[in-house]
Amino acid sequence: MPLPAFPRLGFIGAGRLARCLAAGFARAGYPVAAVAARTPDSARRLAQALPQCRAVTDAQTVIDTSDVVFLAVPDDSIGTIANNLTFDGSNERTTALVHCSGATSVAVLAPAREAGVAIGGFHPLYLFTGDEADVDRIAGCSVTIEAQGELVPLLSALARSLGCEVLTLAGAQRMLYHGAAHYAASFALAALAEAVDIWRTLGFNDDQSLRALLPMLAGTVEAARAKGLSSALAGPVSRGDAAVLARQLTAFETLGEDHAMLYALLTRRALSLARRRTHPPASIDAMTDTVEAALARSLARGARAT
Ligand SMILES: NC(=O)c1ccc[n+]([C@@H]2O[C@H](COP(=O)([O-])OP(=O)(O)OC[C@H]3O[C@@H](n4cnc5c(N)ncnc54)[C@H](OP(=O)(O)O)[C@@H]3O)[C@@H](O)[C@H]2O)c1
Repeated sequence: MPLPAFPRLGFIGAGRLARCLAAGFARAGYPVAAVAARTPDSARRLAQALPQCRAVTDAQTVIDTSDVVFLAVPDDSIGTIANNLTFDGSNERTTALVHCSGATSVAVLAPAREAGVAIGGFHPLYLFTGDEADVDRIAGCSVTIEAQGELVPLLSALARSLGCEVLTLAGAQRMLYHGAAHYAASFALAALAEAVDIWRTLGFNDDQSLRALLPMLAGTVEAARAKGLSSALAGPVSRGDAAVLARQLTAFETLGEDHAMLYALLTRRALSLARRRTHPPASIDAMTDTVEAALARSLARGARAT
């Protein structure tokens, strides 16, 4: 069955992501026909916030009443739920089944494809809080789409209706795509936690540290947006302060565990960024040697976290 240009949408799952997408699509004029969740209250809460949307108790009813169905459930449940849906002709409507996970292969929706339903992935690069404010905040973010044929322009139009940019992905690249995205999310937090832990050894409490470090992170993000990554680089690598870098690596080694190794690995990446500049610091090769020597010492010690 061809995909309608303005499909009736359905949601299986009424959690943080579904609340934002359903409200955003409805605001953009797409009809959201039905929502199912594990608990009736959860589905009802979302459906009540949308015009003419039914809260239903079973996922199959969403399939039977919507053209394009979003599986907005925890990643580990996507395959099981998709396997329990039937597309046997009694459901007159569903022409596309889409999941929203960054890390799950679209192939888990294969039973639907075998029944003639288009399948795809629609992954917003956004941390959903579940608050109503998400609907406004998601504008300007990107949505990564994995689909084929007519589903590509349809999902692209849906992403744009939220004010989002569209990225496209081939299935085989999904693990690298999703893993690398962590550098802009959880790993930024992990890096902050490392700084807070080290400052704690100096007597700063965690609140003080975060109050000092978060504005630095925000400024760095703004500088990256304005000037690009290599120009936004700051610190000893950026200035070519080789002696400072060497003393910092030595200081991190006194902390034991893997602190110096982590610092050296991230400095390696900072040096790569500095090399991309039109005029890299004159001491860049010396700094590289210092970092590689520190890494070799860490490896020789078998550095690990306790
Ligand atoms: N949260 C994010 O920031 C984010 C970002 C990008 C992508 N995603 C993706 O979006 C998807 C949903 O994540 P989420 O954060 O929205 O999860 P969530 O807040 O935990 O919500 C999950 C929803 O799924 C429902 N559910 C669970 N099992 C179900 C079942 N068997 N049948 C029907 N509904 C079921 C839950 O029902 P109840 O409400 O009744 O418990 C809940 O409404 C995941 O694939 C995730 O990877 C999330």
